[in-house]
Amino acid sequence: MKTRNLKIVIAGGGSTYTPGIVQALIKSREKINFNEICLYDIDKARVEDMYLIVKYQLESEGLANEVNLSATLDPEKAFTNSDFVFSQIRVGGLKMREIDEKIPLKHGIVGQETCGLGGFSYGLRTIGEIIKLVGYILKYAPNAWILNYTNPETIVSEAVRRVYPNIRMINACDMTISIEETIARDYGYDRKNWIPIYYGLNHFGWYHSIYDISVDRDIMPEILERLKSDGLKAADFNAGDKTWQEAWDMLAKISTNFPGAIPNNYLEYYLYSEETVEKMNPEYTRANMIMDGREKRTKEMANKIRQHVDDKVLDFNFGEHGQYIVDMAVSILNNDHGRYMLIVENKGAIPNLRDDAMVEVPAYVGRNGVEPISLRFDIPDFHKGLMEAQNASEKLLVDAYFEKSYNKALQAFTLNQTVPNANIAKDVLDEFILANKGYWPELN
Ligand code: NAD
Ligand code: G6P
Ligand code: MN
Repeated sequence: MKTRNLKIVIAGGGSTYTPGIVQALIKSREKINFNEICLYDIDKARVEDMYLIVKYQLESEGLANEVNLSATLDPEKAFTNSDFVFSQIRVGGLKMREIDEKIPLKHGIVGQETCGLGGFSYGLRTIGEIIKLVGYILKYAPNAWILNYTNPETIVSEAVRRVYPNIRMINACDMTISIEETIARDYGYDRKNWIPIYYGLNHFGWYHSIYDISVDRDIMPEILERLKSDGLKAADFNAGDKTWQEAWDMLAKISTNFPGAIPNNYLEYYLYSEETVEKMNPEYTRANMIMDGREKRTKEMANKIRQHVDDKVLDFNFGEHGQYIVDMAVSILNNDHGRYMLIVENKGAIPNLRDDAMVEVPAYVGRNGVEPISLRFDIPDFHKGLMEAQNASEKLLVDAYFEKSYNKALQAFTLNQTVPNANIAKDVLDEFILANKGYWPELN
């Protein structure tokens, strides 16, 4: 493997998260020696905007001459000679995310990007495109590492594994790191001292323990006490975004009502679906907030650069999101064996769960890829039961894609724990079929 003069490609280069990843790359340049960044996308206007922003970032750091930046819609140009591909595509864009969120809400059930039926709609749209993307990468850069953030992660990783079981692809989610970062900051810990054990499916899991090496004990019990007594406060950079404060409030509520484990905040959609629906505005959902917020700010950054406004051009902060994935690339490159929560085929990592579930567990990352850590204990029945139903419904959805089966899709929708009965499952499925014309396979 090449370790110097690396070429890094961002697939979905027009994504609003690109500046954060580039910032982390620049910060880590001593550990990841790249001289080429390529932004690959299917949307010319978006990727041109992002080209300007990244160029500005490189210039600001005095790297414009050292790093060759390009933007392209051509997969051959993008992936040839690449070493790492960061993948973050959104199939159908935020416009389709809005539909994913609004159709279920119209029927009184959870409308969310990755959870519930919105996530299923997004999943059936994404499978074909991600498989195509991986196919390009394997064709033009068979040795490249694909570090994937593209959602919905469990469905994406399950589908890719069925077509390409043994590839250099790592599926990661920033939620656990964000939970840890938020807890550590709010309660005054240094999470660099932590050895957390977590298990679940993506956006559907629990911490089992958090061993802190500075005090040589599991500090999860005291964190659970703080959650119960004080709640959890969003980071300042999320201050204007009430969704995150609400998510942390729900995390505190779940851990208080079901003591013994810190939950992933996304469980709110499954355990308290009615309450989350009541809080949502069916006319103005998270997709609208992102279009009016993060997406708008991204366009403004590009426009300021175009107009040579040199005042406060860069306007983004996504916490650890970019650094987390860049650290993973560094860990591969330098064989660091850093520890990350990753989405992998279970194969005994959670001993009392089916082997072929895609689970999220701690894993070491080095030059030979991902080495998942086996929990070596059975998870409790409450978590196991919830996970088994969720996993079966996600697997049925992926079956529905490959078999083009309406019946399997209806089973998947009905089994999803945000859905109260089969009538609603069918109504929402039928509406999604119409809304996703051209994106979903035709189901028979
Ligand atoms: P976005 O719409 O701003 O950006 C996505 C980009 O992907 C767009 O520029 C779009 O044109 C491009 N795109 C769409 N289909 C493509 C294809 N087939 N090939 C190449 N490019 C394509 O979306 P965003 O809000 O920045 O999020 C991007 C992705 O990252 C989403 O899937 C989102 O769910 C995911 N995400 C995941 C995590 C995680 O923890 N796993 C965290 C944040 C975001
Ligand atoms: C977290 C999750 C991601 C999800 C994102 C949504 O980072 O881990 O999987 O995509 O939140 O953020 P948004 O601001 O787009 O709603
Ligand atoms: Mn995630």
